[in-house]
Amino acid sequence: MKHGIYTLDDIPIEGKTVLCRVDINSPIDRERGVLKDTTRIRFCVPTIEELAARGAKVVLMAHQGGDLEYQNFTSTEPHAKVLSELMGRPVEFIDDVCGPAARERITNLKCGEVLLLDNVRFMSEEMTLFETKLKLSPEQQAKTLVVRKLAPLADFYICDAFAAVHRSQPTLVGFQEVLPSAMGRLFERELSALTQVRETPERPCIYVLGGAKIQDAFLMMGAVLADGAADKVLTGGLVSNIMLVARGSDIGSTSQDFLYANNLGEYIKVAGEILDKFANRVLLPVDLAYVDETGRHEVRVDELPAPGLLVDIGHRTVEQYRKEIAQAKTI
Ligand code: 3PG
Repeated sequence: MKHGIYTLDDIPIEGKTVLCRVDINSPIDRERGVLKDTTRIRFCVPTIEELAARGAKVVLMAHQGGDLEYQNFTSTEPHAKVLSELMGRPVEFIDDVCGPAARERITNLKCGEVLLLDNVRFMSEEMTLFETKLKLSPEQQAKTLVVRKLAPLADFYICDAFAAVHRSQPTLVGFQEVLPSAMGRLFERELSALTQVRETPERPCIYVLGGAKIQDAFLMMGAVLADGAADKVLTGGLVSNIMLVARGSDIGSTSQDFLYANNLGEYIKVAGEILDKFANRVLLPVDLAYVDETGRHEVRVDELPAPGLLVDIGHRTVEQYRKEIAQAKTI
């Protein structure tokens, strides 16, 4: 057991059927059905290899795509091919998640065989929309279709999908209610690293927060500034756009409309509170990149508003952040 959670060392998986949730959600060329980056898949290999080598019958569950844009969802078939190549052993794919075909194949698996189910988000109960509207408790998640259909076929549930465990979805929180469970090796590694940077980071410790997952970014930022884990936070992307608005900058109508269209206006107040408390430890960009119909351009923050959508930090900011990062011991 590590950090209060069972690991693969704690469970006798030999000869057993193991449901393993991985996060192999990857950039994909939808037209050609080809993955453009396989980093996440490579990091899942140690757990899958260990399960297969120890003689488990391995059933992999995974999602591909998010539901902000429905057409993002694609099959996990290309992922099975990549996994087979990386592991040098067949990883079978089935275009079913928990229907009769998948269940029959799972029942007939032999020790050491690996089967990847199709995209779990093809089922409505795995969609983020379902999660955010219904807010099912873990006990209720255990009564969802996927758990009711697959759990009786398995002996253990392993979660190795660290990058997705912020989601309250059946394949991430439902199976633990009904099956003996443990975390996989990637999860264990990520949790150990996170525990170390939260509790005993080498100083200076810098957090770089950007991207579009605003709620997570502000929650994280408030926590690590308040408990002292972060000496400084470097901001970019939507995070810094919101912070600039909170500080009184006019980011321009395109970016402003984008914030409100995505219901992010409420975070301006949160950003303002963080800046009031920790202004000297939060770095905002000094210049930004925006796009318009002619391409990518840069604008200094004191020259705002921008006549297009702000999408990134600019070169001056990159240089400033580069110096901060070069001095840091934990990033
Ligand atoms: C990701 O790509 O960030 C993870 O796979 C989680 O995806 P999600 O935010 O769509 O659940």
